[in-house]
Amino acid sequence: MAKARTTAADENPSRRALIKLAGAGAAAAGAAPAPAQSAEPQADPGQCGTRGFPQGFLWGTATAAYQVEGAWHEDGRGVSIWDRFAHTPGKIRNNETGDVAVDHYHRYQDDVRLMRTLGAQSYRFSIAWPRIFPDGVGTPNPKGLDFYSRLVDELLANSIAPFPTLYHWDLPQALEDRFGGWQSRDTAYAFADYAGLIAEKFSDRVEHFFTLNEMATFVELGYGQAIHAPGLRLPAAELNQVRHHAVLAHGLAVAAIRARAKRAAKIGPAENLTTAVPTIESDDNIAAAERATRELNAGYLTVILEGRYTDAFLKAAGADAPKFTDDELKAIATPVDFVGVNVYTPQYVRTSPAAPGYEILPPARSHPRMASSWQILGPEALYWAPRHLRNIWNVGNIYISENGCGTNDEVTPDGSISDTDRIMFLRNNLAMLKRATSEGVPVRGYFHWSLLDNFEWTDGYGTRFGLVYVDYATLRRTPKLSAAYFAETVRRNAVV
Ligand code: NOJ
Repeated sequence: MAKARTTAADENPSRRALIKLAGAGAAAAGAAPAPAQSAEPQADPGQCGTRGFPQGFLWGTATAAYQVEGAWHEDGRGVSIWDRFAHTPGKIRNNETGDVAVDHYHRYQDDVRLMRTLGAQSYRFSIAWPRIFPDGVGTPNPKGLDFYSRLVDELLANSIAPFPTLYHWDLPQALEDRFGGWQSRDTAYAFADYAGLIAEKFSDRVEHFFTLNEMATFVELGYGQAIHAPGLRLPAAELNQVRHHAVLAHGLAVAAIRARAKRAAKIGPAENLTTAVPTIESDDNIAAAERATRELNAGYLTVILEGRYTDAFLKAAGADAPKFTDDELKAIATPVDFVGVNVYTPQYVRTSPAAPGYEILPPARSHPRMASSWQILGPEALYWAPRHLRNIWNVGNIYISENGCGTNDEVTPDGSISDTDRIMFLRNNLAMLKRATSEGVPVRGYFHWSLLDNFEWTDGYGTRFGLVYVDYATLRRTPKLSAAYFAETVRRNAVV
């Protein structure tokens, strides 16, 4: 284990208190992982037939603030790193931005109506930190809070459960300017303060909170590969420190939400687990896939669920390992109520006699893909991701916080969109998810990414992920054929 170094947190008493609070009740670092708390209804795998999901399974759709809201400069919203990045020429396809996006900020009532027509029972959206704290910290902006309050009320009035995510990559630019954003522990502490405020303001009406979305993506692409905001390419030691600050922010936020919520809240991350899929399902390959999943996520979900960095992770990092304290590890592993995973692609593996005991198999050149260049098809991931969460870490409540596909939809002359590819994707993915629930893997719900076509980061408006088509010239919404498929799935609570 890397030698713990004194951090700013050790010198600051209120930070020490926050870290203590975060770690309270967590498994001691290095101990066998404790199961995530299991307070939600248990799956009843026996009652669902060959296609059905457990009773009470929750269906929903997902979006994120920067990708859908627009109104980037309205009602006191501060600038985020994504505003700055997208406004920098050459960063995004066709120099597109989220300035207007799909105008969800003004059209949220219409969009809630759309959710209703899908029969959706829940909505995963994200809260834009710079709408709440334009400078990242300080005095909250009442107009920002008011927007999310109106959205939550609208959802509840339509019997749709709100599942907010507190961080979907739109860091206040002020924090990037002040101390390098996630390069500093200060951002983790600022995030916990913001998360606590959200809990205080919304926990009377909101029960579930996701902390950070896809730490592995925003850290690796934003701070390692200069592909996402803030566009940095940090050396290994600094990048490991950024990874550490992200998981620390998660743990501190879990504790802050729990401390300031007005009634019991349920809290968890929404992480893009790198999901090792055994190419051939034999015992040795399955064991290799479990080993691989643990190591490939060592800097993110593994440390969150185990309270320690794996030996292999620290050995590979060597002198570049992150600097951390035991108290921080405890804070990172603050028990969660559920684990959310975003599942898009598989990572095929097989066993190997050589260390680390598994071999990663690159997809064949002709492996089928969706329209997003990174998205190879592999519905099996939607079986293995939750199964790994249960088998490796004994997680008791799992949400598929995102699953979906990028397509090049075309509008036919009669104005309809026959996205047979998305339906194929959905049917095959859900069949694999159903395999998991049939085996008693405790998956509680599924959020389709996305409700609407939207700003797809560096792809701009080039690939479409929505069940609902958006004409970007008029912002008119038209449900695709897949919206009808999804509605039927929800209605029957089954693979259709
Ligand atoms: C995961 C991200 O959370 C979301 O923002 C993105 O649009 C989808 N992947 C598709 O790339």
